[in-house]
Amino acid sequence: MKNRTQVVPGIYGSSDGICFVGEAPGYYEDQKGLPFVGKSGKLLDKMLEGIELARKDVSILNIIKCRPTTTEGGNRTPTESELRFCGEKWLFKQLKLLSPRLIVTLGGIALKFFIPKAKVTKYVGQLYDTDIDTKMFVTYHPAYILRNYNLMENYNEHFEEIKKILNENSKGEGKEETQSQQKNISIKSKQKPLSDFF
Ligand code: URA
Repeated sequence: MKNRTQVVPGIYGSSDGICFVGEAPGYYEDQKGLPFVGKSGKLLDKMLEGIELARKDVSILNIIKCRPTTTEGGNRTPTESELRFCGEKWLFKQLKLLSPRLIVTLGGIALKFFIPKAKVTKYVGQLYDTDIDTKMFVTYHPAYILRNYNLMENYNEHFEEIKKILNENSKGEGKEETQSQQKNISIKSKQKPLSDFF
């Protein structure tokens, strides 16, 4: 990727834990080499704190590992082929190594990467069973919440739901009912079911 300062591979919490998947590093991430350290990262940290989690407890990855820039040096949305390339070369391998109990997709690009035809509005706030022995919860990108603050209450509910899912999954202890309906889905790269990569 032209103009990037450094690669932003992501941060790893404990394996068998929770893994947030975002889109691509922006300016601050590119400067620091860490994911979600700009304004949206601050909101993500706050949301985690709200459910008694810290960065060290979770994995935070992006599909794209280098900041995509415009010719003028601003941020731009990654192209489909960049998403495929980085996703299949890096993200899938990271997920395979981490083998998270729960993947949380942040925003439309991350959701569509796994489920190409999915619309955030239809999938958001739901828990899905996948074909790679992990569950997937769909929520908004924190940058979207910063632009649409009226969804904050909803966002809080999503994180409460994430907390319940994690409790429910921790060795079968402290089971609580989750509001989300669990549906079985095959999460796919554009061409192949994700399980083919695992
Ligand atoms: N947005 C993302 O999707 N990822 C980051 O790391 C920062 C902002």
